[in-house]
Amino acid sequence: MSIAGAQSPSPLADRPTGYGLVTRTLHWGMALLFAWQFAGAMLHALAERTPVERFVWATHYSVGVTLWALVLARGAWGLANLGSRPRHEGPPLLARAATLGHLALYALMVVVPTLAILRAAGNGRGFSVYGLQLVAPGGEPNAALVAPGNVLHGFLGWTLLVLVAGHVAVALWHARVRRDGTLRRMTHGPEESRLIG
Ligand code: HEM
Repeated sequence: MSIAGAQSPSPLADRPTGYGLVTRTLHWGMALLFAWQFAGAMLHALAERTPVERFVWATHYSVGVTLWALVLARGAWGLANLGSRPRHEGPPLLARAATLGHLALYALMVVVPTLAILRAAGNGRGFSVYGLQLVAPGGEPNAALVAPGNVLHGFLGWTLLVLVAGHVAVALWHARVRRDGTLRRMTHGPEESRLIG
C-alpha cells in the first residue's frame, strides 16, 4: 500500500503531484554531498598534494560512506512511495528514457561507494570513517575485495558524474524549454501543499 494513499496524506510522503519532504531533503542534501565528493575527486585527479586537495580529499571516505548510507535509505523510501510518485512527463519514449536514466543513477550511486568500501575493508591498511576505526590495519590484502574497486571505482565514479551532469541538464530543459512542472515537483513539493502553504 502506498504511504500517500492514507486518508490524510502526510507532508513527508510523495504524491503524484510532487515529492514529499523526505524525498526532497534526501535529494538536495545528497546533491550537495555529491558536489563536494566530485570536487574532491577532480582535485585529486588534477591538483594532487595541494593544500585544497588535501583538505577536500581528507573527507572522501567519510562523505562517500555517508552517501552510501543515504542512497540505501533513499532507495527504500522510493520503493515505499513507488505507487504515489509523480509520473515522468512527455512522450512514452522520453518517459522510458527517464526511468532508465534514474535506474542507472541509483545503480551507480550504490555500486561506486560499495566497491570502495569493500576495497578499504580488505586492503589491510585499515578503514576509518569520521575518525572511527571500522577495520583495524594489518593482515594480508584480500584480492577478491580489492581488485574490483581498483578496476572500477574511479571509472564508474566518473561515469556517475557524466550521468549526474545529464540529469541536471534534462531537469533544466524541463524547466526552461518544456516549461512543465518536473523540476518544481522536486523544489516545491506537491501542488496541494503549495496551495495550502
Ligand atoms: C558515492 C561516493 C563516491 C564517489 C562518487 C567517488 C568518486 C570517486 C572518483 C571519481 C574517483 C577517481 C579520482 C581520480 O581519478 O583521481 C575516486 C577515487 C577514489 N575513491 Fe572514491 N568515491 C566515492 C566513495 C568512496 C568511498 C566510500 C571510498 C572509501 C571507502 C572511496 C575511496 C577512493 C579512493 C581510495 C580513490 C583513489 C583510488 C581510485 O581511483 O580508485 N571513495 N572516487
